[in-house]
Amino acid sequence: MKVWIDGAIVEGSQARISVLDHGLLYGDGVFEGMRVYGGKLFRLADHLRRFACGARAIGLELPGSLEWVEKIVLETARALGEDEAYLRLLVTRGQGALGVDPTSCEHPQLVCIASKITLFPPEKLQRGIDMVTASMRRPAADALDPRIKSLNYLNNVLAKREARLRDADEALLLNAAGMVAEASVANVFTVREGALFTPPPSDGALAGITRASILEIAAAEGIATHERTLGRFDLLDADEVFLTGTGARVVPVATLDGAPIGEPGSHPLTDRLSAAFTPFALERGTPF
Ligand SMILES: Cc1ncc(COP(=O)(O)O)c(C=O)c1O
Repeated sequence: MKVWIDGAIVEGSQARISVLDHGLLYGDGVFEGMRVYGGKLFRLADHLRRFACGARAIGLELPGSLEWVEKIVLETARALGEDEAYLRLLVTRGQGALGVDPTSCEHPQLVCIASKITLFPPEKLQRGIDMVTASMRRPAADALDPRIKSLNYLNNVLAKREARLRDADEALLLNAAGMVAEASVANVFTVREGALFTPPPSDGALAGITRASILEIAAAEGIATHERTLGRFDLLDADEVFLTGTGARVVPVATLDGAPIGEPGSHPLTDRLSAAFTPFALERGTPF
């Protein structure tokens, strides 16, 4: 693992952050998860745009220009030197006095971690994962907008923990109205009669970059796509359900709350989109 911190790239075990950093104390900051495919950073500009938007949404000024951040990301990827990798870029409010007041934090702290990530074992990706509906809801946009990729992921962590305690792989999160928002760190799609459906980000999901890529791939392949509010019923009634995310990529869902989705073991459109995602990703990378 390589980490860019305080102007230098160090081994993961050498990277240090202050206990007075408000990212640690209050989850005050934003982050991005990015992938390297075939030695190139996938959709770097889109990740940087979302990162900058998230920082602006929480009133956090980045400690340098976006071009400077981009250079750091590329430099960290280069230091790791892997053709397949996962990068975590984050900015915290920085060190400050104890207390939630962010005005004492004068220097935001930027960190970039380059490593590997495996969210689900390969056999799960073949068969499909088991998902359960979490007992907690996604926070509403008027509490904490889920479109901000903030360091405050306790809702996501607890939903995932609940899924694991219930012997499932992943959690489905509903919004305050009881409609589908997303999974713990992935977007949700259904397939019905050859068409794709996914909830709009305003239903409580992050505007996922993998999600946008799948919508683009589907459109190019002549598959109809619809951004539409979905309920649990729509998932149970679907021919296929899959999740998308930088970490997870494209993951078929086999069951929801113990009920099989579609034909067990059969997810042809998910497989087709997943296969099409690889060349798509290789074409949209920034070399480092
Ligand atoms: C809450 C949440 N939803 C969805 C996603 C998927 O977004 P992306 O495809 O941009 O990784 C993520 C990404 O990690 C996430 O944290």
